[in-house]
Amino acid sequence: MEQKTKIKGKVHYVGVNDRTKALFEGLWPLPYGVSYNSYLIDDEKIALVDTVDICYFEVFLHKIRSVIGDRPIDYLIINHMEPDHSGSLSLIKQYYPNITIVGNKQTFGMVEGFYGITGEQLLIKNADPLDLGYHKLRFYLTPMVHWPETMMTFDETEGIIFSGDGFGAFGTLDGGFIDTRMNTDIFWEEMIRYYSNIVGKYGSAVQKALEKLAPLNITTICSTHGPVWTEQRGKVIDLYDRLSRYEGEEGVVIVYGTMYGNTEQMAEAIALELSAQGIKNIVLHNVNKSHSSYIISDIFKYKGLIIGSATYCNELYPEIGSLLPKILLRDMKNRYLGYFGSFCWSSAALRRMNEFAEKSKFEIVGEPVDMKISMDDLIYSQCENMGKAMADRLKQDRETSQD
Ligand code: FEO
Repeated sequence: MEQKTKIKGKVHYVGVNDRTKALFEGLWPLPYGVSYNSYLIDDEKIALVDTVDICYFEVFLHKIRSVIGDRPIDYLIINHMEPDHSGSLSLIKQYYPNITIVGNKQTFGMVEGFYGITGEQLLIKNADPLDLGYHKLRFYLTPMVHWPETMMTFDETEGIIFSGDGFGAFGTLDGGFIDTRMNTDIFWEEMIRYYSNIVGKYGSAVQKALEKLAPLNITTICSTHGPVWTEQRGKVIDLYDRLSRYEGEEGVVIVYGTMYGNTEQMAEAIALELSAQGIKNIVLHNVNKSHSSYIISDIFKYKGLIIGSATYCNELYPEIGSLLPKILLRDMKNRYLGYFGSFCWSSAALRRMNEFAEKSKFEIVGEPVDMKISMDDLIYSQCENMGKAMADRLKQDRETSQD
């Protein structure tokens, strides 16, 4: 049993899988579930790195005991206080009353606030060390990735970074937990969806964290969600780097809100023209059907964004109305925006889209199109023009990057 949990050196995987929860943070669908990863370092001094959601405490405790038996744990290192990781803190403290909680200045206010625990704490600052015997740890403060207390713990002996939510992905670990012993296909899209929805607003904080990690010789990434990354760690770090710089690929997301399909026909006309102009990555989202987390994820992936809305009660179509603040909240940069609206008797959606366009600071591409009731030849050609303008803007970047 013990060997199966081993990652490297004296580090063991003791995380758990959640295949029950429908919505992570009450917001994000989990079609592949989610893992809450915790790591146990069975050294001269024993350290536990983060805990798990409280619902899984029994399973978690069993996993810990299968590695260390009845021996006590010396340190509980808290890289992140969100309750999907700190949830078992009180119970760990009950089972291991002499455990020393390791955290930074921001951590302990939350430990007390969430769990009423004080005392037996080791307050660390950036780059402070902790010697466990074989494993020599060093702590790096990475505030706002994605909470203020977030930090990462680096094991200098084996090159393992315990990264908290950093480099995390949705999806359970079904048997294997190391990238070399599992099929990782589903995790790439789920990593983008995790990043863009949960961490996405904090791109500059992620960039600062990546700068801090750059000099470290990282061999293994142990995040709190998703696989332990070894051979594919370079791809993971590159992906986080690109996403946190808001660097989209060539492609266009067209999101639209429609009641009877007339606004959808505008989206179809634009998409057809984009394709005719040589753009291959085109994703259409009917906002009534696609969950916003998938839409946001695709907006992080691609540089082009085109949004269309029917007018509803003299306002935006409600689901578009709810999507636009979610886009603004993430403070995204480097996107090209086109937009269109429709109405039956009074144009309102396009007016609201104009306001959004101004707030977004995205580069506007093409002339906004406003359709009365249904498609005609003039509106169709205006939609084609928008598709062509977006394709031209993307191809301009393609040419620049080839120079
Ligand atoms: Fe996985 Fe921010 O908690």
